Amino acid sequence: MALFQKRTHNCGSLRTEDSGEKVILNGWVATVRDLGGLFFIDLRDRYGITQLFIHPEDSPALVERARQLKSEFVIWASGTVCMRENPNPKIPTGLIEILLEDFDIINRSELPPFEIINDITTAEDLRLKYRYLDLRRPDLQKNFIMRNLVYQVTHNYFAENDFLEIETPVMMKSTPEGARDFLVPSRINKGRFYALPQSPQIFKQILMVAGFDRYMQIVKCFRDEDLRSDRQFEFTQIDIEMSFIEREDIFSLIEGFFVRLWKETLGIEVEAPFLQMSYNEAMTRYGSDKPDLRFGLEINTITDLVSNSEFKVFSDIVQSKGEVALINAKGCAGYSRKQLDELTEFAKKYGAKGLAWIKFSGGVVNSPISKFLSESEIEKIMKAAGCEEGDLLLISSDTWHRCYTILGAVRLEIARRTGILEQVKNQYSFLWVTDFPLLEYDAESGRFIAMHHPFTSPVDEDIPLMDTAPEKVRAKAYDIVLNGSEVGGGSIRIHRGDIQKRMFELLGFTPEDADAKFGFLLDALKYGAPPHGGIALGLDRITMLLLGTDNIRDVIAFPKTTSGLSLMDGSPSYVDEAQLKELGIGIIKNE
Ligand code: AMO
Ligand code: AMP
Repeated sequence: MALFQKRTHNCGSLRTEDSGEKVILNGWVATVRDLGGLFFIDLRDRYGITQLFIHPEDSPALVERARQLKSEFVIWASGTVCMRENPNPKIPTGLIEILLEDFDIINRSELPPFEIINDITTAEDLRLKYRYLDLRRPDLQKNFIMRNLVYQVTHNYFAENDFLEIETPVMMKSTPEGARDFLVPSRINKGRFYALPQSPQIFKQILMVAGFDRYMQIVKCFRDEDLRSDRQFEFTQIDIEMSFIEREDIFSLIEGFFVRLWKETLGIEVEAPFLQMSYNEAMTRYGSDKPDLRFGLEINTITDLVSNSEFKVFSDIVQSKGEVALINAKGCAGYSRKQLDELTEFAKKYGAKGLAWIKFSGGVVNSPISKFLSESEIEKIMKAAGCEEGDLLLISSDTWHRCYTILGAVRLEIARRTGILEQVKNQYSFLWVTDFPLLEYDAESGRFIAMHHPFTSPVDEDIPLMDTAPEKVRAKAYDIVLNGSEVGGGSIRIHRGDIQKRMFELLGFTPEDADAKFGFLLDALKYGAPPHGGIALGLDRITMLLLGTDNIRDVIAFPKTTSGLSLMDGSPSYVDEAQLKELGIGIIKNE
């Protein structure tokens, strides 16, 4: 009995036409079934599962040895391919089995802390600790096979379009770009730090100055921000930059990419060109800068109808230039008090002070605010909302941004509760969101921040407004949205040094500050920077959408939990005093 016999086939490849062939398989024992008269072993590898079969009458000794086998043991097995008596049409190898002739254990396994099956209920924390076992599950393996396909299509598509893949540093200068940086201390230059890139933004622009013209990279980015189900500290971008182009060139390039990707992964024909919508329209119709257009449920603005209302909540907001708007939740007039309270609480998470409602049922209007509104006001509101028998109107009144954001969230919640989201789950709706404001006022710090990033170009005709009304300046920025998820964002960049300096000024940098932080970019812009622009696509999010999962950890082999821990290797971890000393670092102990 040899210790290890190398496989002739994998566990997913044998079919009826291989019947009669002598084969050797290697793999993990998925299940062992001892049915007294008959003995079955399911052998698993990343290609599939093949059933091994022993007829006890033929080989009682083999059965005796097979009784030692346990789940997750690694074995080799040799035998002859036969047609199954009880075929399993659900799996590709389900028509055949291997009549076992010999096998041996290559390596044993302890009893795994959970069963390696697709329908798993084990808590995610335990699965993350034993990630290598979780990753053996066919469902998770399929995710990484898909992710790999995304890499291949990406490389092929951009190479065919003349893009050069160029690597940019993972250790760079700390430059404020939006999120917090992860820092790496320098041993040789004590007290100085590298930062991990939040994106290769500045480097890819400098590559344009260097004349590389069409750059791409599948690249890890690092951002120290709160984690969510679609956000990790380290994530992967498909990063693109091009010179001598206009926005439309980026649009058609990226549309071509998605068409190709959907075709080669899901076999689905996506229609291009994609819809385009301005940021303002997206906010006022859908309450989001990444609207899900697979369904309607649009927002109706009723500010003008209630500007003189007796109801102070509405008229005061109108006075202070806010908005009053609503969602018509069709057929939801039957919602109970409890359900309406839940919706109000839900809206409060987005900053709402309340969520007014009007029910129209049995021809009767029912609303907690009806006593404050005149009959004609209610009539006008219902008309504007297209309110019919059985409908429920949900009204928000707040500052412009908050009013629409609240209703945008309520819109998605109603779509979820009424089953609309479930109905549209196999549809793909791509959208370009355009004409973002260049700047956003941050009340907390009392200054403007860049809505995309500081290198985004203002719209040409708005450049004079940078001096008079910065909040009105539009950016040459765009996001690509798929089913309500932001899968990419980019812009045409500033290639003129004077405008870049003005931008830094607007963001509150003194010339010295700007020079200290971004001097190398400002320098590069002095030496013949071509007009350029680009985009970065979120590879993890795209893979999630291709797979229909809403958990980013399903598409990252070794992810962090939402509290930033890697449960398998235990990072982040403490380090030795000696290691810190070498770096010139002391830890401030918490009281
Ligand atoms: P932006 O910050 O919009 O643009 O990032 C581009 C895309 O990356 C994805 N993404 C993330 N995915 C997972 N986890 C995260 N924490 C995370 N953060 C972002 C999103 C997003 O749309 N340099 C610019 C691009 C450019 O202007 O060309 C940039 O990084 O899908
Ligand atoms: P109140 O007068 O505060 O009791 O509010 C009466 C109704 O108006 C309640 O149904 C509140 O939920 C609702 N409401 C209060 N503030 C707002 C607001 N800013 N927008 C929409 N509805 C509100």
